[in-house]
Amino acid sequence: MIKKGIILAGGSGSRLSPLTKSVNKQLLPIHDKPMIFYPLSVLMLANIRNVLMIVNPGQIDSFKALLGNGSRYGIKINYKIQNKPRGLPEAFILGKSFINNDNIALILGDNFFYGQSLAKKLEKSSSHKSGATIFLKKVAMPKNYGVAKIKKNKIEKIVEKPKKFVSNNAITGLYFFDNDVCKYVKKLKPSKRKELEITDLINIYKKNNK
Ligand code: TTP
Repeated sequence: MIKKGIILAGGSGSRLSPLTKSVNKQLLPIHDKPMIFYPLSVLMLANIRNVLMIVNPGQIDSFKALLGNGSRYGIKINYKIQNKPRGLPEAFILGKSFINNDNIALILGDNFFYGQSLAKKLEKSSSHKSGATIFLKKVAMPKNYGVAKIKKNKIEKIVEKPKKFVSNNAITGLYFFDNDVCKYVKKLKPSKRKELEITDLINIYKKNNK
């Protein structure tokens, strides 16, 4: 079972500048709610009630004003600061003591999921005991994403921003990992763009057939 989740709500938000110069991207509205409510509700649909929110320095008070310790939503929220956007897997380094010996979900603070069978799929995935689960979405411009090539319902290959067509199944910002993620994250080296890459982490699981 996965009972804990991390929301990565830092980042530089450069593509939405200057909107994001003084306000964190995840606090901007989508329809009538701040963006962060949507990934938070995805975790709640997966029956996750214990959340670590990773935010930028100087922005923790805005998140606390909005969400507090989570008790008004019947959940528990803790906060941790990421000094610089060093890549998505850093969530598992910053979140090490929060994760402890448990399995963990990770969702990006700017991801919006919807769909008829979403709740069922989330429940099913969060009940897994070992390995990794990712969620794919067909996209028109796969070269902008990490993509997964599927053969016979299994992941054959994972490529970050492929220049040549590999697959149009983009890897979305929701991941379920067993506790090995804390061990595997230590093996990662920063990529050319000087970030730890989530595709490298997923590839370790793939190599181990998990
Ligand atoms: P990105 O799309 O990589 O970056 P960004 O959203 O900050 O925007 P831009 O590329 O326009 O500068 O991040 C995706 C999500 O993950 C977003 O919610 C921010 C979050 N994030 C972190 O919290 N820490 C990180 O180290 C990274 C890379 C992203």
